[in-house]
Amino acid sequence: MSILKESDKIFSNLYGYNDPYIDGAKKRGTWHHTKDFFDLGQTAIVNLIKDSGLRGRGGAGFSTGLKWSFIPKAEVDHRPVYLVVNADESEPGTCKDRDILRNEPHKLLEGCLIAAYAVRANKVYIYIRGEFKREAEKLQRAIDEAYANGLLGKNACKSGYDCDVYIHRGAGAYICGEETALLNSIEGRKGMPRQKPPAFPASTGLWGCPTVVNNVETIAVVPDILRRGIEWFKSYGRPNNHGTKVFCISGHVNKPCNVEESMSIPLKELIERHAGGVIGGWDNLLAIIPGGSSVPMITREIAENVLMDFDALREVGSGLGTAGVIVMNKSCDLIRAIANLSKFYMHESCGQCTPCREGTGWMYRMMKKLADGQGTSSDIDKLLDVTKQVEGHTICALGDAAAWPIQGLMKHFRWYVEERLDAANS
Ligand SMILES: Cc1cc2nc3c(=O)[nH]c(=O)nc-3n(C[C@H](O)[C@H](O)[C@H](O)COP(=O)(O)O)c2cc1C
Ligand code: SF4
Repeated sequence: MSILKESDKIFSNLYGYNDPYIDGAKKRGTWHHTKDFFDLGQTAIVNLIKDSGLRGRGGAGFSTGLKWSFIPKAEVDHRPVYLVVNADESEPGTCKDRDILRNEPHKLLEGCLIAAYAVRANKVYIYIRGEFKREAEKLQRAIDEAYANGLLGKNACKSGYDCDVYIHRGAGAYICGEETALLNSIEGRKGMPRQKPPAFPASTGLWGCPTVVNNVETIAVVPDILRRGIEWFKSYGRPNNHGTKVFCISGHVNKPCNVEESMSIPLKELIERHAGGVIGGWDNLLAIIPGGSSVPMITREIAENVLMDFDALREVGSGLGTAGVIVMNKSCDLIRAIANLSKFYMHESCGQCTPCREGTGWMYRMMKKLADGQGTSSDIDKLLDVTKQVEGHTICALGDAAAWPIQGLMKHFRWYVEERLDAANS
């Protein structure tokens, strides 16, 4: 498995050691002959991104090129097309997009221009989480620079193509990261997910028009894929899991960090090489949530050998999600940690579907009870039954996201929960 060299990193200024603005960005190769990409043509760019194997970095891992190809052709559909960049980043354990916004804003903007051209959008909206005030200011400065240098706006990069980029600031709701809630929020409505079907963004998105919604990282890697070539991108990661990826490593590690690495890097190597290892050593590891708070945890035995990619983590009953790796060693109260996440999902539920509105509250209260050592083994079964009634029965995936951490806990650590109940009842 190839491990990423410094020179192969896409985000060479991820830590903000150098100038994030236009002069620094140009030195790093951003905006270099961007016009040449327009000569490839729209369909060719979509096909290249499809062939590169890029899968969305926002959580679900859907093929980016395939998503772009769903936009109806101009010959059959005369409505405007929109590109919307999801910079809402509120998933616990995930803090990568904000680093791109702060330190590599021009990489994102160049990606916006190319992606907009590929899907024939003339307007791009970047939806930023409300709390990211400084990031929004930095991004706006980069946008202003790009306009002043003829890189965005009319005849962007002298390509003959017009492309405007706007920032839309959210108000700090996790649910607005769900793509259709995000579109509602831009339109000035309540940030509640839309029922799909019929509201698939590719056909009925922003203001009822065809829309592509992509994550910040997904869009920001597009220029490098085209510039360095799809074979370069595909040289990282296993088939169907290609490319490089920004991983966020937090929790009980010696050096929590964000790091760009090759997809499919072994999880253990990722933690030991970049995060200084688990506090107290690998044997002190209890569990890891490998993909942001919404995926089920895995045990140390699984973490020992699993690779960090979409397919490998799915095979062990978890997911790559946002690649937010949350490490929990033996000092962690696992039940309370998951109860804490349950409280988060209860708070963030938009409340429009009953299983989620009622179920997230139920799950939190039962988790809290178990964390306090109250209840019996049959309460665990009841709780699992509630998670099953929520999972797959809601309008958006927040319901699943609330159910899975609990299911992961009970699948691998039911003995741990039962030990607490026994101790409290004896
Ligand atoms: C509750 C919820 C919150 C989400 N939050 C985000 C987010 O903050 N950022 C993001 O890119 N995707 C988020 N997503 C996923 C988006 O709905 C969407 O799949 C993604 O933006 C598509 O981009 P991609 O194809 O580049 O991954 C969220 C999904 C759900 C269900
Ligand atoms: S699953 Fe929850 S957050 Fe999603 S639409 Fe239903 S109530 Fe709202």
